[in-house]
Amino acid sequence: MAAYAERGGEDVELWSVTGLLHDADYERFPDMDDEEKGHPRSIMAELEKRDAPPEMVRAIAAHAPYLDVEPETPMERTLVAVDELCGFLVACAAVRPEGINGLSAKSVKKKLKQPSFAAAVNREEVRHGAEKLGMDFDEHVAFVVAALESRADELELHGRDAA
Ligand SMILES: [Fe+2]
Repeated sequence: MAAYAERGGEDVELWSVTGLLHDADYERFPDMDDEEKGHPRSIMAELEKRDAPPEMVRAIAAHAPYLDVEPETPMERTLVAVDELCGFLVACAAVRPEGINGLSAKSVKKKLKQPSFAAAVNREEVRHGAEKLGMDFDEHVAFVVAALESRADELELHGRDAA
């Protein structure tokens, strides 16, 4: 989120914090059918209570398709585009000795075709992400890999080679 905000000349802090918080209630309230508290309603309510920027709350709503808030703004579309992809890239990094370093779009696509690998990641969502940003899929993947690579220390994505 920070990398895309920077690239588009947007508010890096707003985008970063939105990315950090969008799933903050997931572990406690994973039941999306719970219309009162189910993810992400709890974190949205909490942020509203704390006078968080409305665009942050709306973006968090828009990343949950079942809330019927269509992702419209660049921040909303970007959150959807990077959410599942980041999870998938972290899974790819975890099985490579070199971690995230040098991970290519080609090998990401190969992994996407293996249904058993990181099976919880929604492939459709990963593929549609780039479209929502109006970007070529490979370019989008390469951009997000580079963003994760630049923070590989704090995200512990250097792989076994680093140990
Ligand atoms: Fe979520």
